[in-house]
Amino acid sequence: MSIAVVYGSTTGMTEEAASKIASILQADCLNVAEVSPEQLAGYDALILGSSTWGAGDLQDDWDAFLPKLEGMDLKGKKVAVFGTGDHEGFADTFGLALVKLREAAADAGATLIGEAPVEGYDNIDSAVAADGKFVGLALDSQNQPELTDARIEAWCGVLKSALA
Ligand SMILES: Cc1cc2nc3c(=O)[nH]c(=O)nc-3n(C[C@H](O)[C@H](O)[C@H](O)COP(=O)(O)O)c2cc1C
Repeated sequence: MSIAVVYGSTTGMTEEAASKIASILQADCLNVAEVSPEQLAGYDALILGSSTWGAGDLQDDWDAFLPKLEGMDLKGKKVAVFGTGDHEGFADTFGLALVKLREAAADAGATLIGEAPVEGYDNIDSAVAADGKFVGLALDSQNQPELTDARIEAWCGVLKSALA
């Protein structure tokens, strides 16, 4: 099983999470600013990560790659999403980049994996939480840095089962 963690990160928070996830899953860790669809086509599974900016926007480096991702044929590939955000300052747009990545992967035919529990966050009023779960791993390294490593480890456990 070949796995790529592909991240976009402005201040390094999502990059740090990506690196930890890649290390646990023994995956390649790639910056979205430097990847091509041809390169990603060779992997069995993609773990896509972005921080959220503006009012729920993708991290800048994803803007150029998202249309390319949507144009890929991801049938037969498993895709999970993750990212960092600020759930206290941006409760209504917390982690919306994850929703955008997941929708793009679904449109491209991917099999979606990697939902995560919503326990431990306050007043989330964003579409990143749907049906009582997060659509992926939504980290808040700003307000809850002490919870980040445990959340990553638990989520990677879920992914390992889904990827087995
Ligand atoms: C101007 C600004 C807008 C932001 N907008 C959001 C937002 O809408 N939703 C969210 O969850 N986080 C938001 N954040 C928080 C960032 O996503 C957070 O700091 C993130 O960890 C940055 O990750 P990065 O260093 O990987 O880019 C915003 C931060 C700033 C400074």
